[in-house]
Amino acid sequence: MSAAELQENNTTGNVKHMASLLPFRLPAQLKIIIFCFSLFLNDFNWLQPICPIEGRLGGARSQAEFPLRALQFKRGLLHEFRKGNASKDQVRLHDLVQQLPKAIIIGVRKGGTRALLEMLNLHPAVVKASQEIHFFDNDENYGKGIEWYRKKMPFSYPQQITIEKSPAYFITEEVPERIYKMNSSIKLLIIVREPTTRAISDYTQVLEGKERKNKTYYKFEKLAIDPNTCEVNTKYKAVRTSIYTKHLERWLKYFPIEQFHVVDGDRLITEPLPELQLVEKFLNLPPRISQYNLYFNATRGFYCLRFNIIFNKCLAGSKGRIHPEVDPSVITKLRKFFHPFNQKFYQITGRTLNWP
Ligand code: A3P
Repeated sequence: MSAAELQENNTTGNVKHMASLLPFRLPAQLKIIIFCFSLFLNDFNWLQPICPIEGRLGGARSQAEFPLRALQFKRGLLHEFRKGNASKDQVRLHDLVQQLPKAIIIGVRKGGTRALLEMLNLHPAVVKASQEIHFFDNDENYGKGIEWYRKKMPFSYPQQITIEKSPAYFITEEVPERIYKMNSSIKLLIIVREPTTRAISDYTQVLEGKERKNKTYYKFEKLAIDPNTCEVNTKYKAVRTSIYTKHLERWLKYFPIEQFHVVDGDRLITEPLPELQLVEKFLNLPPRISQYNLYFNATRGFYCLRFNIIFNKCLAGSKGRIHPEVDPSVITKLRKFFHPFNQKFYQITGRTLNWP
């Protein structure tokens, strides 16, 4: 008998044996068909929007052991619950909890924070807080207390981790201390882009807001360069936000550098997978995001997300705006200005980003 035949015989034997365990009296062949069908359902339960798999797991498992595919199946269920369709009983039945984040994307605004959050959410062990919560940077929200913040978190299974993003956290004075008080060992993600490009992106967003309200706005050049000195205008917020090292230094008074991970936002646009794999590693998650989950959409000009054969999505049109043309001499001036700050940023973070 060949090895293949032996294998096949063994499999058939196993199936027959398992089929014989079916508790009711049925002809053997029918039992085999039922058993094979149940195997089919097991293997293909990604077709089911909701899989009551936790009933079969029996007892709590550590995150490492927990079958991540099982968590993926539960997404449909979580989605329903997020829409507010869950009854208290359902929440209890499925052991759902609203967990404080174990990692936060603290910024930087226009760095690609939404893309990063959405892409990490492809991982079955990650659940995103869809809205920017602005808990730590908004005094009124902060005053409502940590339970208010927790209640803003999505439902998740205890084995999953919750991630939120509020890009203003990175530049807001009070935030590092407040986050430290909540969890001194939290993981912090900073996504950065080449500082001048980021500043222009920031400007573009504000400009669009003004145009929507039929208001006129200054040209970027006028805001970024002080007309009196002809130097870079460091009072302009879009410029200040791009001095990454200044902000990071404030954070380092509370958290060691090991608790930060720098994501290259420019590379996340062109080559997202390797960036996401670095984040998976930083978060101690098993690698689950694959090229299958990311496909380039030529119409959008960006990578979009594929959760499964049925569900995929691109980011909203507000991500990936066309930037206005900026005087090249202003760009050169800005790049020269940012250069020493960038060098310091590379040195502190240990990540060199080859910006001009
Ligand atoms: P632009 O609008 O300047 O192109 P944020 O989410 O922090 O506001 O960042 C917005 C930026 O995310 C966009 O800036 C865009 O370039 C970038 N981005 C990265 N990956 C993207 C993706 N897959 N789809 C759309 N935008 C993406």
